[in-house]
Amino acid sequence: MSAVNVSKLGYVGFETPDVERLVEYYTRVLDFVLVEGDDRGAFLTTGVDHHCVVVTKGGTRARQVVGYEISDDLDTAAELLKESGYVTQRRSDIGPGTPDVLVLEEPGTGVPLHLITAQDPSGVAGFTPLRPTKLGHVAAYTPELAPMQSFYQDLLGFKWSDTVGDFFVFLRCNADHHAANFMASQKYSGMHHIAYEMRDPNHLISMLDHLAQHDYRLHWGPGRHGPGHNLFTYHRDPDGNVIELFTQIDVVHDEAKGFWEPRPWHEEFPMGPRTWEVDMATVNQWGPIDPPSLDH
Ligand SMILES: [Fe+2]
Repeated sequence: MSAVNVSKLGYVGFETPDVERLVEYYTRVLDFVLVEGDDRGAFLTTGVDHHCVVVTKGGTRARQVVGYEISDDLDTAAELLKESGYVTQRRSDIGPGTPDVLVLEEPGTGVPLHLITAQDPSGVAGFTPLRPTKLGHVAAYTPELAPMQSFYQDLLGFKWSDTVGDFFVFLRCNADHHAANFMASQKYSGMHHIAYEMRDPNHLISMLDHLAQHDYRLHWGPGRHGPGHNLFTYHRDPDGNVIELFTQIDVVHDEAKGFWEPRPWHEEFPMGPRTWEVDMATVNQWGPIDPPSLDH
């Protein structure tokens, strides 16, 4: 039993020297909605949640905070985390949409993690041709893989989904194949990439044409990953952060069985979590490998 059960990736924070430029990218290029802006930051959403991206003025730190929804109440979570030896702080002043937050530090990176039970509604709903459906996952470097994996699994209730070689792990907190992934590195730190989900391949293509019209070009993809089998594309935001737009990620509907819902492009049937070789078919079933994407 884990101390806490994370059920959703809520939001990710970005520090930027130019808030206006990054907000412009999110609103005009990615079609997010700016829900609220105050001295605590710009709060952007893709849908009903108050925000999934928070932009604050500073350096160029990406993933400077990660917010997770948990299915436990915050009192119990605080208690159990304390019993497990983790110091938490209860905050009511974090920002709009999240009036009650439990803050703890991610070991190894020092990134503040915000645990919440839910967000206030954004008031944003309905169909738009372009806007991503949701924040899908955020990938980060970690000095050591094992302690990070055990923190996320044993303390926060994540489940193991896949590993590549001995340095890249994928973890899920609900049906989606991964909400958090970590790459072990003594060379790099910080965010590896952040990913937003598109409805389907046509939605993704429409967004790629929209990106091109705004002079944003892909540096990798379209391709299909092995782990998660998501169809992926990667480009950079104005600060140079790597942004993945993806669709068709693996899902598990029956945790008791623990297999991904079968898809024609899977390597085996039934297919569940496994450790993958580091090769072309793992990184991109369609080829080619993007060399920097595996540099750790
Ligand atoms: Fe990804």
